[in-house]
Amino acid sequence: MMLDPSGRSMDYLRLSITDRCNLRCVYCMPEGGVEWKPHSSFLRLEETLRLCSLLCELGVRRVKLTGGEPLLQKNLEWFLRALHRIPSLEQVTLTTNGLLLADFLGRLGDGAPSLLAGINISLNTNDPAIFAKMARRSELLAVLDGLGRAKSMGIPVKINCVPVRHHNESTLVDLAGLAANEVLAVRFIELMPMGVATGLEGIPTDEIMALIESRFGRLSPDDAKIGNGPAVYYSLPNFKGKIGFISAMSHGFCSSCTRLRLGSDGFLKPCLASDTGLDLKPLVRSGASDDEIKEAMGRLAASKPTGHLFAGSAKPGPNDEDRTYKGPVGMYGIGG
Ligand code: 5AD
Ligand code: SF4
Repeated sequence: MMLDPSGRSMDYLRLSITDRCNLRCVYCMPEGGVEWKPHSSFLRLEETLRLCSLLCELGVRRVKLTGGEPLLQKNLEWFLRALHRIPSLEQVTLTTNGLLLADFLGRLGDGAPSLLAGINISLNTNDPAIFAKMARRSELLAVLDGLGRAKSMGIPVKINCVPVRHHNESTLVDLAGLAANEVLAVRFIELMPMGVATGLEGIPTDEIMALIESRFGRLSPDDAKIGNGPAVYYSLPNFKGKIGFISAMSHGFCSSCTRLRLGSDGFLKPCLASDTGLDLKPLVRSGASDDEIKEAMGRLAASKPTGHLFAGSAKPGPNDEDRTYKGPVGMYGIGG
């Protein structure tokens, strides 16, 4: 079991399997995309699979596939099936921008719900013009198609929206309205000031709650635990679905975080905001044994900081000298 000094057991892995993306969301990717890197700087899927199974031997039970955009990974279906053969892995979920989702689910066929226990779709607005400005591509219909397909297969769906001042601000309440007639969660994620997002202004949870209440009525706290993350959920009168908030900036939740992150470059991070971590690629490629790799992973988990320093208030972990975020890295590299 991987424990950190405050006793948190690392049982959840966010796995970025590509840092490429077919959108260019203003808070994540520069307009022109990111610098091209040679294939050799990314892990091959076989290497990623080995690392996943070692992490599962150390206590990881749930894996979230992220990116960039994970559906751009050509052999994702093979990988997904291989992950399910790791004995102690209990659950695999996916975070996607939804563009290629309908097609992917079609290929998985009837087995999709047993391969994917849940799908998070990043959707910042349901207004086509605002979508095209924020994601810098006009693909809203494809995303909605993917959403509909996942729902129709019975896969639990959550919508992730990052509210950004002067961008999707005017359509947040409409987006929340998607949970009125559908059993799904619409979640609002506070903007984290990393990479290209540093120049943008996020919108705090309390402000969005007030906007939603003024249209739809009182948000009542909902005890149901949905998913593995730090989201807090509410219900609204006559709504079939739920509204969630992930308030990384305004209401810290680091103390209950049990996540590790593995990047497509083989960099294992103890925390989203870390600029330190463990580069597993040289270990894997120099013929290190499973035990050597697991030992290094265990040390990394033990260095997990107690809180992020975005807001300047977190307590540094034992190995943190200076954990203030130094950018320029976007979420595309570490998968949110
Ligand atoms: N702050 C908050 N959320 C972000 N995401 C990407 N970049 C940021 C950021 N700077 C979101 C994506 C996706 C999730 C994994 O993280 O929109 O829904
Ligand atoms: Fe792509 Fe997601 Fe980043 Fe948008 S937020 S550019 S969909 S990786």
